[in-house]
Amino acid sequence: MAQGLRARRSCLAVPGSSQRFLDKAKGLDADQVFLDLEDSVAPSAKPAARGAVVDALNSGGWGEKVRVVRVNDWTTQWTYRDVVEVVEGAGTNIDCIMLPKVQRAEQVVALDLLLSQIERSVGLEVGRIGIEAQIENAQGLIEIDAIAVASSRTETLIFGPADFMASINMKSLVVGEQPSGYDVGDAYHYILMRILMAARAYDLQAIDGPYLQIRDVDGFRRVAERSAALGFDGKWVLHPDQIAAANEVYSPRQDDYDHAENILDAYDFYTSDAGGARGAVMLGDEMIDEASRKMALVVAAKGRAAGLARGDVWQPPADG
Ligand code: GLV
Ligand code: MG
Repeated sequence: MAQGLRARRSCLAVPGSSQRFLDKAKGLDADQVFLDLEDSVAPSAKPAARGAVVDALNSGGWGEKVRVVRVNDWTTQWTYRDVVEVVEGAGTNIDCIMLPKVQRAEQVVALDLLLSQIERSVGLEVGRIGIEAQIENAQGLIEIDAIAVASSRTETLIFGPADFMASINMKSLVVGEQPSGYDVGDAYHYILMRILMAARAYDLQAIDGPYLQIRDVDGFRRVAERSAALGFDGKWVLHPDQIAAANEVYSPRQDDYDHAENILDAYDFYTSDAGGARGAVMLGDEMIDEASRKMALVVAAKGRAAGLARGDVWQPPADG
């Protein structure tokens, strides 16, 4: 992954054509914002939205948020101008470009090449701006491995449920909820797992897409908990009420975080000469070994990225 583990528990969608939403987003507690030039912006409003997005990025006030711009997909007439205008205008204030409806690796390569030219032309560090790839249709999903490795800039693979449901003719209009008639499990399980496998195989973050019933925070939480349980790193949020829920659902629980840090400390100690150079040891009632360390590393990394502080800290026994 280009930039290490940045927290992306909550990824806030902000329509680039709305000055009110652009201003409001700065003060919200999302880990990431993406300023949208694609589907939340009407075709006639797209040219003006580019300028508004550049001004919003350059005027600062985004704190530690990951700052992303979603451009239009390569099948439209807008993509190249979206990229040129926002990166030339605000390149130092952009962390990633999000590319929607990715269907083939070449589309990621094309964005990578265009970014490199702009970076050279205006004197930006070449390769710093990352890419986020949205997987939103059947073609993108079957090409996902090639898409994942197409550029070293790529940081995330994102599930786009609304476009995906349309792409596969799913018999439902309620994004994220189960289609009625399907009563034997989660209709999204294969898609989520496929995205997650590619993300983990190629060291990228896996991000779940939007839940459109914005007043139903319990529904949001229920759907988010499913992808969080599988291992996803975060989810889109469309409304301030969804942010706190996402930040909570995609963070480890405090006791899991403490437990993970304690496994790491205890395992380090017991495998060292001072601790007896042992491989499998007891931590309380639990046997831990190298595989436990690997699981603990994941939870600890997510907890650290989320800014959790350690509570209950393990101490080595006084007599070794
Ligand atoms: C997001 O872009 C989606 O299509 O769900
Ligand atoms: Mg979409």
